[in-house]
Amino acid sequence: MFRDDFVWGVASSAYQIEGRDWGDGGGKTIWDTFAEEGRIADGQNAKVACDHIHRYKEDFALMRLMGVKAYRFSLNWARIMPEGTGMVNEKAIALYRDMILEMKKNEIEPYLTLYHWEFPQTLQDKGGWLNEESAGWFAEYARIVAENFSDLCEYFITLNEPQCFVGLGNLTGEHAPGLKLPVKDVFQMAHNVLKAHGRGVISLRKYAKRPIKIGYAPTCGMAYPKTDSEADVEAAKKALFGFYNPLERWTWNVAWFSDPVFLGRYPEEGLEKYKEYLPEITKEDMKLISQPLDFMGQNIYNGYMVSAGADAEPVFENRKPGYAKTAAGWPVTPEAFYWGIRFLYERYEHPMYITENGMSCHDMVSLDGRVHDPNRIYFLDMYLSALQKACDDGADVRGYFLWTFLDNFEWDKGYTERFGIVHVDFETQKRTVKDSAFWYQKIMETNGKEL
Ligand code: NOJ
Repeated sequence: MFRDDFVWGVASSAYQIEGRDWGDGGGKTIWDTFAEEGRIADGQNAKVACDHIHRYKEDFALMRLMGVKAYRFSLNWARIMPEGTGMVNEKAIALYRDMILEMKKNEIEPYLTLYHWEFPQTLQDKGGWLNEESAGWFAEYARIVAENFSDLCEYFITLNEPQCFVGLGNLTGEHAPGLKLPVKDVFQMAHNVLKAHGRGVISLRKYAKRPIKIGYAPTCGMAYPKTDSEADVEAAKKALFGFYNPLERWTWNVAWFSDPVFLGRYPEEGLEKYKEYLPEITKEDMKLISQPLDFMGQNIYNGYMVSAGADAEPVFENRKPGYAKTAAGWPVTPEAFYWGIRFLYERYEHPMYITENGMSCHDMVSLDGRVHDPNRIYFLDMYLSALQKACDDGADVRGYFLWTFLDNFEWDKGYTERFGIVHVDFETQKRTVKDSAFWYQKIMETNGKEL
């Protein structure tokens, strides 16, 4: 059973939906540069995206109509502070305030993410997150956010998916800024990012105009056991929190990005395994990084199956031939949701919100003018049932944010992936509510009793 006050919502990010030509003096982000360099699928960019900046009133009205009660969204740092620090763009503040007021008018509770990858280009030119001053830059931005929005918002999330913006952005180069830095630098960067999170939390609490609730939204590749035997369950946990990722994928290590935040220490095994790459890590750093948080956000999309070998070590199982996958090629693994939530809750003991989960499908408007997306409905049904079971088995999950409301700009994949429960025609900006949105409407309305 879901709690009576379970929060049902949808999630998005500024850059993916707003459209870039605000004409209000906002600054450039690393994603603008990345697009200019032609690094996005089909040579696309986010200049218009969902044109949400001009259409948010209608978009929130539609959310309300669909029964959405909570909305996780982000602010564009570079838009608010064109140089990343210093000067504040008051027009952007006014517009974001209006946007939040509009959400509230529609009885939608805002969950504000400070950083969902809208990194100011000017700060990138100074070395980006690799610059040790980056934690201070983020603290300053967090102060501006607290001063200007804490009267309207109660829930704040510092960083979205550090694994991605550090790893994909700076180790493999698939995301902006598209760098392939030496592993040692990337470890330093990850440490700076965690310190930025800590300083962000301090700033938010210090400058907020009232008590607020703060969380963090990492992502994961999730391990789940082949059977529910104790041996398999232990092996899955070991795989999830242990150090089996090859070096070129170390940023996907869940413990590395969550233990410091929630437990105040890096995992011993990692300190040992990665020792030649590590930056200086002090006691003060760990204290800073592990600021008390009100909740743990977690993005979960899929996972991998693990069994126990004869020596109790994890065996990473092959996927079945023809296994179910999303349009993005991601495996459909609701088991990962059930087990993952349990594993994370057991280890970190914080109230949880699923800050993202959803599916990309090959959606199209069909002859009857509607968008039929049965696969997304099955996906959500299976995942939400798994979530419900995790709650029944003791995980303290307070809310779920479906990724995402509108089809949008999927980073390096441009417009080739549709994750929305509302279809967007990117030429006309026409919104068409998909079948899955009507389905989700019922789930939200009945607090999951329809599952
Ligand atoms: C992760 C990211 O936070 C979000 O921006 C992205 O669009 C979705 N997951 C889907 O890939």
